[in-house]
Amino acid sequence: MCGIVGYVGPRDAAPVLLDCLSRLEYRGYDSAGVSVLDGRGVETRKLAGRVAGLRDLLARAPLHAHCGIGHTRWATHGAPTERNAHPHSDCAGTLALVHNGIVENADVLRAQLERTGHRFTTETDTETLAHLIEEARGATLQERVLSALVRVEGTYGLAVISETDPGTVVVARRGSPVLIGVGDGEYVVASDANAVLPLTRSVVYLNDGDIAVIRPEGYRVFDGEAQPQDRSVDDVEWDLETLALGGYPHFMLKEIAEQGHTVQSTLRGRLLPADGTARLNGLNLSPARCARIRRIVIVACGTSWHAGLVGRDVLEQLADVPVSVEYASEYRYRKQLRVPGTLTVAISQSGETADTLEAVRAAKAVGSTVVGIVNVVGSTIAREADGGIYLHAGPEVGVASTKAFTSQLVALLLFGLYLGRARGLSVREGRALAEELARLPDLVTRTLALEPQVRALAEQYADAGNALYLGRGVNFPVALEGALKLKEISYIHAEGYPAAEMKHGPIALIDEHMPVVFVAPRDHVYPKVVSNMQEVKARGGGIIAITSEGNGDLHHVADHQLRVPATSPLVSPILTVLPLQLLAYHIAVLRGCDVDRPRNLAKSVTVE
Ligand code: F6R
Repeated sequence: MCGIVGYVGPRDAAPVLLDCLSRLEYRGYDSAGVSVLDGRGVETRKLAGRVAGLRDLLARAPLHAHCGIGHTRWATHGAPTERNAHPHSDCAGTLALVHNGIVENADVLRAQLERTGHRFTTETDTETLAHLIEEARGATLQERVLSALVRVEGTYGLAVISETDPGTVVVARRGSPVLIGVGDGEYVVASDANAVLPLTRSVVYLNDGDIAVIRPEGYRVFDGEAQPQDRSVDDVEWDLETLALGGYPHFMLKEIAEQGHTVQSTLRGRLLPADGTARLNGLNLSPARCARIRRIVIVACGTSWHAGLVGRDVLEQLADVPVSVEYASEYRYRKQLRVPGTLTVAISQSGETADTLEAVRAAKAVGSTVVGIVNVVGSTIAREADGGIYLHAGPEVGVASTKAFTSQLVALLLFGLYLGRARGLSVREGRALAEELARLPDLVTRTLALEPQVRALAEQYADAGNALYLGRGVNFPVALEGALKLKEISYIHAEGYPAAEMKHGPIALIDEHMPVVFVAPRDHVYPKVVSNMQEVKARGGGIIAITSEGNGDLHHVADHQLRVPATSPLVSPILTVLPLQLLAYHIAVLRGCDVDRPRNLAKSVTVE
């Protein structure tokens, strides 16, 4: 989704901005642009297309200045054309502005601004912001931005430069992240910490409602009432190496392959096997408070929602507490019930997903305590939650989420252990699970060794037009996740279903052209799943079974078997999902798809 950058300092701004923008490409975008403020005024270069194209454009028509802003746009209002690409300008062409988010009252504002003589040149909602600032009163750009934003409904993370304030970038945020990277005598602004890493690891995260003024001599942060604020300077914990391909052809494959390490990072220092529990310092929930929880509501989107479905089984079984799992986008618009003793758990890789963030706010508004299970440190959900568990999986660059999913499951298991032990789970049961979790990095690495088999299978199924993924119990969300991975990167239509539901409709689809993937490790529902396989086989469907090592009874029913190490049922989704990630990846590559940048998708969905 859209990315913002800005620079103030002694270097030539345009190459810095391009470098920062290239680090936001993974988020998904369709056009790009930069504006700089040089001695003559604001100069802009933009186009529909990639940052590489913008780099060529700047090579042909260079810009030299020490202050500038840049943007990658993911179209919402108006087609992905050069005209609609950011930065946008006012009538006089004296300012330039980049914006993430949505101006919800853009139509009303546009009509008002046109009545007072403003001429619009784009179809975007963002252009209204440029004209509002042009019209606003104030001695400085900061004052004019502040006064303009009073009229705006919706969300924004924005950066502005203006001829009236040479050498200055003004940024503001409401609902869309903005941070300032603090370098040595230079400052870089971005919507995502990845962008600032070439210059600095020290960042200041703005709060909602903040506005900041960045000049060569320093930066200042103000709240919505223009009162100066002290915001802490945090360290970004990952480095540039983690953002490089490191010899892999795609980030998705790299991130799949590193899951032995990433699950280890999520576990590190948290597992207490002797006590059969977990140490979760950031949770801010004492055992006494855990004992008082009466229900848990999990809110999330997409892959994180699938993790939530696994989490329901984990928390219900370990902590004996009722759990419901909600699509954040639906939950936020339903009537929220004020049920005393409710704990809301928000799961989000990015920590910026607009719907999940609003679900968090809605839950807090009815008095619920909120725990965040988040990967990106310092992200909005992490900061607005009352406590949480960071995944520590490192930056996830591939648009299709892989390592974040397995780390989310690990975090939910750790949470289940901690909560369970506070609510009656015995030390013996806790120890058994903790010991299994301690083995997990090794089990993950062993499972990933299935890759050659999965690749061979991908060759056989790369031309499929459809696929069904089936599983029961805790394996059903894995089926959903396998289907989502396949459809989002290979564009093959795939559906996940609870295996027994198949005969209530989808069974009509089954013939010799329909591959059916069963997630079927040895657990208490396994015999039932084998019956479901027989139903598919009887109708000619091809069966791929993801089952447990040592399981020898599927030869007569499954066409292909991928066997993952045997483990406890609640841990098994972390293993069974791995061949499904690899299958989707290899099929997509064989079909020539752009795996790391699937069409229409964005990494972090910051609009609703
Ligand atoms: C799928 C995928 C998305 C995200 C969803 C939520 O591969 O990545 O479905 O899981 O957009 O994103 P986060 O977890 O950042 O809230």
